[in-house]
Amino acid sequence: MKRNSWVFTVLLAITMASSTIVISYLPSSAQSLVGKEELTMLTSPDYPPYEFYETKDGNRQIVGFDVDIANYIAKELRFKLKVTESDFNGLIPALQANRVDFVMAGMTPTPERQKNVDFSIIYYQAQDTIVAPKGSNIKKATDLSGKRVGVQLGTIQETNAKKIAEKVSGIQLKQLNRVPELIQELKAKRIDAAIIEDTIAKGFISANPELQFTPIPPEGPSGSAIAFPKGSPMVEPFSRVLQQMKDKGEIERLASKWFSASTSAAAAGAQAPAAPKGGLNLDFGRILPDLPFVLQGIPLTLLFTISSVFFGLIWGTILSLLKISGVKPLAAVADAYTSIFRGTPLLLQLSLVYFATPQLIGYNIPALLAGILTFTLNSGAYMSETIRGGILAVDKGQREAAMSLGVPYWTMLIDVIFPQALRNILPALVNETISLLKDSSLVSTIGVVELLRSAQIVGANKYIYFEPLLFAGLIYYVLVMALTVAASNLERRLRKSD
Ligand code: ARG
Repeated sequence: MKRNSWVFTVLLAITMASSTIVISYLPSSAQSLVGKEELTMLTSPDYPPYEFYETKDGNRQIVGFDVDIANYIAKELRFKLKVTESDFNGLIPALQANRVDFVMAGMTPTPERQKNVDFSIIYYQAQDTIVAPKGSNIKKATDLSGKRVGVQLGTIQETNAKKIAEKVSGIQLKQLNRVPELIQELKAKRIDAAIIEDTIAKGFISANPELQFTPIPPEGPSGSAIAFPKGSPMVEPFSRVLQQMKDKGEIERLASKWFSASTSAAAAGAQAPAAPKGGLNLDFGRILPDLPFVLQGIPLTLLFTISSVFFGLIWGTILSLLKISGVKPLAAVADAYTSIFRGTPLLLQLSLVYFATPQLIGYNIPALLAGILTFTLNSGAYMSETIRGGILAVDKGQREAAMSLGVPYWTMLIDVIFPQALRNILPALVNETISLLKDSSLVSTIGVVELLRSAQIVGANKYIYFEPLLFAGLIYYVLVMALTVAASNLERRLRKSD
């Protein structure tokens, strides 16, 4: 009897322990809805205190009200969370392409957006304001008559401004990609006013005391909600947790953590800039701590350039061989290819590859890869012409001599023609590399944090725009110079080896 009860106790303990283990390893119910453990959030971190970059020991991460809420929800539903970034007008396309699981960017659920994505319940209310230079009399919609008005591209502020423009005459709209650009344009007096949400305006105004803001009555829907791809199973669990957070006062707690004017300005690392002293009003001191972050963008920029030149050279060689192959259809295909890739803007090709690939072939191409692919395809087209010219320029006599010596065609091409062609086209290849290096800045538009993007992020963060860009420009220049020197050394060495 005694023994029996002992066995029973052990069995019971084993059952309990193993079931606890099984339960804790079992995916949460929300996890099994999507069949993965990590969710990717996309945001537009130009919107302190909702979302912005913060530096800690030289490392930058996206923080803010939205990020805190997302972390809370992820924890509650037992997901890991990854936060990625893009410009605001790229958020909805990313959801439509199923590139990310959800978007939190202080985004307002409007009927137009609801046609394309699904929304959670609203978690925070906001109101539009007119931001204008202090002392200007621009305080209500009718004051905007005849004025240049800035808004962020793709936001409801843009839509609202258009609605105002229908009623008030002579408004000139200027749509910019990011909110700090609006502030910069205001300070440069290239716009007279900007329409910005209240909590955001507050932060920017405490960093820029020469500006003021006045709330205006709503033109349409307002407030922020979380956006999901259409039909996402996550809408319900997220809304449920949001409601709990509201009921428990958690949202209010986070709002007061992030939205009290002093916190928001301080959180965004924004000291009030020194009053203009006249003359050159530059302040590199404020971005000094951020320079290492900008420098961190260099490896990516170089990676892009080197891979694109390398693959572009291979691709360009193949195309040029097709062109001189003497086989008409092959040459025609290569010519058509070249004409298309030279005849359309690189930026357009980049957006097409990045945004259309998931939709067309269902492959969620990473930004980095999309960049390298586009650049390879594009520079291959240019290089094929250069290489073709280089090959044709090699003296015909050399070709004939090699042939008459019985050197096989391919051996001749590789041993005789290519080395000479390469030397002829080296300057053109250096030119191509230089433009690729500078054009690599275009991938900043699809969310790759390379050199230019790092500089823009620093600008957004410190509410200054000019200095980080100047610094990035300097780095580009130094890189190009280094490349030029290296290339002319190479050229000299090739010439010597004659
Ligand atoms: N609430 C506005 C909208 O949905 C503006 C949001 C802008 N957000 C941002 N992260 N820049 O259009």
